[in-house]
Amino acid sequence: MEKLYAAPLEGLTGFVWRIAHRQVFGGADRYFTPFISPNANCSFQTREKRDITQNEENLIPQIITNNEEYFIWAAREFAELGYDEVNFNLGCPSGTVVSKGKGSGALRDLDKLDRMLDGIFEALPDMKISLKTRIGIESSNEWPAILQVYKRYPVSDLIIHPRTRRQMYKGEADRELFLDVLGSCPELPLVYNGDVWSSDDEAFEYGCGVMTGRGLLQHPSMLREVRGGEAASREELSIFHDLLIDGYRTYMPGELPLIKRMKEFWFYFSNSFEVSDKEIKRLYKSKNYAEYASAAEAIIRGCDLK
Ligand SMILES: Cc1cc2nc3c(=O)[nH]c(=O)nc-3n(C[C@H](O)[C@H](O)[C@H](O)COP(=O)(O)O)c2cc1C
Repeated sequence: MEKLYAAPLEGLTGFVWRIAHRQVFGGADRYFTPFISPNANCSFQTREKRDITQNEENLIPQIITNNEEYFIWAAREFAELGYDEVNFNLGCPSGTVVSKGKGSGALRDLDKLDRMLDGIFEALPDMKISLKTRIGIESSNEWPAILQVYKRYPVSDLIIHPRTRRQMYKGEADRELFLDVLGSCPELPLVYNGDVWSSDDEAFEYGCGVMTGRGLLQHPSMLREVRGGEAASREELSIFHDLLIDGYRTYMPGELPLIKRMKEFWFYFSNSFEVSDKEIKRLYKSKNYAEYASAAEAIIRGCDLK
């Protein structure tokens, strides 16, 4: 079986989600932290530190930066904590990130990217380094030159989300382009990422790794199913939900942030159920924990599973 990865989603797949997901559903060979952004202070934010110090197995920390030295500093800190692999975010399309030349913004100046990768791979000979990338900023015509840069380095995984930055999360992921790379570069450790919504997606037949993000949030048993396991049961979905609540409670300062976080989760999780507009609106409109819990319970206990 090829590698099956859970994608990082800022605000959604932090340690609470990952630990609950592993416990209830499993099926992912690796999880990735949402991006960690090292800076000149040479210290991680509390949230970042917490996310990488929960003794999770098969967790790869992800760095986003436009600065080689910051990358090397952060990767060495990860190594001190016991990690032997790090992932470089070259895909994030958000305006504030891209304007600083980070995420997919790093694809704008390929000479600089090349120099940065050169310095990073040189400085970290004992660390596995994987890349997660988009296929261009404005157009996929940029891709051949980007690929030429990546091919110079011994990347441990090249995870491709075949959209441009301009597309954000809209339009089609260019699976044809991905399959071209797969066919023409058999030496590359490729991982496909983008719009994998179910266990019968053809990506699982590509013969390379597959990473899924939003699809896994919607159907948390997806990767277990790919391995021949069962679809999520109602009981499992209920346990999973409660583990998230318990986990967020341990560090969130009160009811309202907790409910807000859970509503973000439900944006995807509601797709596990045949839920009516009325039921989901009730959940989104809840103003305190009691209202939230009652709305969530009604869906989890009452709605058919999809
Ligand atoms: C809300 C949100 C947050 C994301 N945060 C990250 C992130 O921190 N790091 C990253 O590499 N990708 C991030 N992504 C991109 C996903 O990892 C993934 O590449 C993208 O959603 C496409 O895959 P999917 O269709 O399977 O979700 C994020 C996507 C979304 C929608």
